[in-house]
Amino acid sequence: MEPQTIIQEIAPSLYLLRVNDRQTRYFEALWEIPEGITYNAYLLKTPEGAVLFDGWKQPFTDAFVAALEQLTPLDEIKHIVIHHMEPDHSGTLPKILALTEAKPTVWGHPFTQRLIAGLCGLQPSFQAVKNGTRFAFGGRELVFYHAPWLHWPETMVTHLPQDNLLLTGDIFGGYGIPEGVFDDEVALLDQWLDSARKYTISVIGHYKDKIGKNIRTLTDKYGLQPSMILPAHGLLWRQAPQRVVQAYLDWGEGKSQPGKVTVVYSSMYRYVERAVQVAVDELRARGFRPVVHRMVDDKRAGLADILSDLADSEAIVLGTETYESDIFPLTEFLLHEMVNKVAFAKPLLAIAVFGWAGAAGKKLHTLLENAPYEPVRIVEFKGLLTEASEAQIREGVRAMVADLRAE
Ligand code: FEO
Repeated sequence: MEPQTIIQEIAPSLYLLRVNDRQTRYFEALWEIPEGITYNAYLLKTPEGAVLFDGWKQPFTDAFVAALEQLTPLDEIKHIVIHHMEPDHSGTLPKILALTEAKPTVWGHPFTQRLIAGLCGLQPSFQAVKNGTRFAFGGRELVFYHAPWLHWPETMVTHLPQDNLLLTGDIFGGYGIPEGVFDDEVALLDQWLDSARKYTISVIGHYKDKIGKNIRTLTDKYGLQPSMILPAHGLLWRQAPQRVVQAYLDWGEGKSQPGKVTVVYSSMYRYVERAVQVAVDELRARGFRPVVHRMVDDKRAGLADILSDLADSEAIVLGTETYESDIFPLTEFLLHEMVNKVAFAKPLLAIAVFGWAGAAGKKLHTLLENAPYEPVRIVEFKGLLTEASEAQIREGVRAMVADLRAE
């Protein structure tokens, strides 16, 4: 089936080339995306030729070439700007370079040249840019700024000052396939912000400290207040660009939604589930809003969705089984990624269940010893929920609530 593409002029002589990817089930072969994803490239046409910004993932190469050819003969592409070399945007680069006889100059962060050689085996004509490098071409002006580690070292953005547009690569991007192109064309904008949070936390979360630093450099040091934000995934922001900027700053700082508590658990035979339900009931009784993710025998929550909810929760409830004298494998993987991507000082209540001996609790102590969560409380008991263990769980929730409200 032909991929669905959108080609649209979004500003004078600036075109969006978007493909809707419904075939990738695990972004980066890791993050579950039943909602799909888009790849957004852009083309600027001028009297002197065209400038191409980024590209699509390699399986969409033929569709990308066809989309470009609707806008311009390929030999009219004189320059290619690479905001970020991850192959979901650069997979089409080798084919475009091969098809353009008047070889375009590639513009990018100095490190990009090495990545093109390493990932594509190519050495095109290359122009390295610094912070604030200006390039005037065909009556238009482009200004480049580095945004390192969002989320690769060579990440950069391009400002078009005449139109006050900012092309941002992964930054401000989101999962999902919006029914419209712009933020004012979708019905549920909050839902799309959730998609952007899921993308940001799963893909950029490891470098969360760089989010505020880079954005403030762009806004405060360089004075950028773009009227339109044009990311390489998902929605384009023209009605409320400041809203996605503020959301990004909040996610980078781990700002919580009042009352939101993420509850996530693994449960082979529902012993953990029954125990966790006690915590959920206690939270609700105290006016909190538990968001529950289950890893059980008929349902497995997506890791990216869990991490995304953890990022803006006030607190965490984590339930786990013991498995072969160790912590349940999915919980161990989750904890690894939690500490990696959602490292914020939030209270955590762990509920561990064992059949033979208390292995999961011991492992939790070890895994959480150097984790950022605080305070950490661990309730551990044999499988059956007893009055005593139920009381421990309720007390754990009460103590967690007291911590939160004491702040
Ligand atoms: Fe969308 Fe980091 O690539």
